[in-house]
Amino acid sequence: MRIRKAVFPVAGLGTRFLPATKATPKEMLSLVDKPLIQYVVEEAMAAGMNEIVMITGRNKNAIEDHFDRSVELEHILEKKGNMELLEMVRSISEMCDFIYTRQKEPKGLGHAVLRVKDVTDEEPFGVLLGDDIIYTEGSPVMTQLVDVFHKTGGSPVVAVERVPMEAVSSYGVIDGEPLGNGLYLIKSMVEKPPRDKAPSNMAIIGRYILTPDIYRHLENTPFDAKGELQLTGAINSLLKERKVYALEFKGKRYDAGDKLGFLKATVEFALRRPDLGDSFLQYLKTLKL
Ligand code: UTP
Repeated sequence: MRIRKAVFPVAGLGTRFLPATKATPKEMLSLVDKPLIQYVVEEAMAAGMNEIVMITGRNKNAIEDHFDRSVELEHILEKKGNMELLEMVRSISEMCDFIYTRQKEPKGLGHAVLRVKDVTDEEPFGVLLGDDIIYTEGSPVMTQLVDVFHKTGGSPVVAVERVPMEAVSSYGVIDGEPLGNGLYLIKSMVEKPPRDKAPSNMAIIGRYILTPDIYRHLENTPFDAKGELQLTGAINSLLKERKVYALEFKGKRYDAGDKLGFLKATVEFALRRPDLGDSFLQYLKTLKL
């Protein structure tokens, strides 16, 4: 079964990036010259998903505008004869079909995903978080997850990464049985465990493939002490009923929702760019570090 829909929860407050995110969504922060969200939409499209479902919140109009046509800008570029830029600007609005829905209050990732129950309906769907930017030399991470989804006969799968033990309390963490080639059968998962209670250092990052039965579990998962409905809690409940897998993906992840992670991504993406890499490297070498 083809996975057509990709869900992007973009309703968070982005408090780690204030004041930049006071009036601008963090997903619109630019990595070199492209907003974070566009990298992730391109990753979903590469995995065959061409219906993009955005769960937005307050101050998120810039995301809709970015993926919409900009007739005035197109007109000016056309008049100036700048066909290359015109083509690039147009291609963004022609990328795929976009559906927008709103999460009125940021009550957690699980609460955000539950908003699209009627949109994804009976189909499996991808979930991608715009602040996890992942560089791969081979298949993009969503494509790696789609392969696992098919190989396991249509089971939900989450992307995981080994993180330092002192960082586990910032993530959902899995206890998994290794099956080889980076694949794990998840036995349980726990959200933001203290270091001494973490079952492993395998952290869930922002890529998932979920099946419609997740909604029943989301509806039955209580809000946590902070008033948030966690997706991890619902998946933990789902895996008592069916097999759920974790894939230690191949690639390098940057937490672009965090200032240091964003800076690392900026430097490394700029260095990889054929049009900028050499001159940027020359500049970096002039810095007496
Ligand atoms: P984060 O916790 O990283 O995002 O959620 P945040 O809350 O915006 O950022 P900080 O921690 O305050 O800096 C991961 C993703 O889930 C979305 C966010 O937009 C982000 O892409 N999210 C989170 C929602 O859409 N709704 C929520 O209620 C919470």
